[in-house]
Amino acid sequence: MNEINAQPVLVAKEIYKTYQDGNQSTEVLHGVDFEVNAGEAVAIVGSSGSGKSTLLHILGGLDEANKGTVSIDGQAIDGLSSKQLAGLRNQKLGFIYQFHHLLGEFSAIENVAMPLLIAGMAKKTAMQKAQALLERVGLGHRLKHRPSELSGGERQRTAIARALVNEPSLVLADEPTGNLDSQSTESIYQLILELNRDLNTAFVVVTHDLALAAKFARQAYMQDGNFVSKGE
Ligand SMILES: Nc1ncnc2c1ncn2[C@@H]1O[C@H](COP(=O)(O)OP(=O)(O)O)[C@@H](O)[C@H]1O
Ligand SMILES: [Mg+2]
Repeated sequence: MNEINAQPVLVAKEIYKTYQDGNQSTEVLHGVDFEVNAGEAVAIVGSSGSGKSTLLHILGGLDEANKGTVSIDGQAIDGLSSKQLAGLRNQKLGFIYQFHHLLGEFSAIENVAMPLLIAGMAKKTAMQKAQALLERVGLGHRLKHRPSELSGGERQRTAIARALVNEPSLVLADEPTGNLDSQSTESIYQLILELNRDLNTAFVVVTHDLALAAKFARQAYMQDGNFVSKGE
């Protein structure tokens, strides 16, 4: 690992999360510490209900912790205004969800260009960049298709291209192949690992599949709201 790679892209300290249900409160994260270095590929494994999604949402600024701090590329996200946080998410982070979350009324290329347009890039440049990335993920022949005209695997490839289009430092993925057959699953993981290697983007990918997790350079295991092993 070179020196640039040794910089942390994500530092989370003492993360606590409690859900309030009526007058009953349940603590689901119990003081989680987690660090990811630039360019790392980390799989988070754990049984259902262990807190993986909750943690990922907090790491990505999509949900707030009750206590603890999260920094992305050295910048603390706590205390940012919602506009600042949206800007940081747009510039530094990519997300891939189990369900693709693509916009149904837009084509693949428009979906991928969207984060660039939101960031203020000129349309022509944004579309060129989106096209290049769709070609990179093997969808050069599907640019104008809408999500409903794509297979499940193609939708997730589009979602991956969208997550990467702003050249984020870190991509967070929550069971990105949870809805796919085993062959598409295999090829999506292969793509993620290739992109990690080629672009030096850090990936944190939640999966409950140990064989898929084993493909990553690092595996971290969650149980009952904390890590039992972080694979560092
Ligand atoms: N919005 C919510 N309100 C109340 N409890 C929740 C909510 N979201 C998740 N939980 C609970 O928090 C725990 C962790 O959930 P989650 O982070 O989704 O786990 P995982 O992704 O590992 O399956 C579970 O017990 C779940 O029921
Ligand atoms: Mg989950």
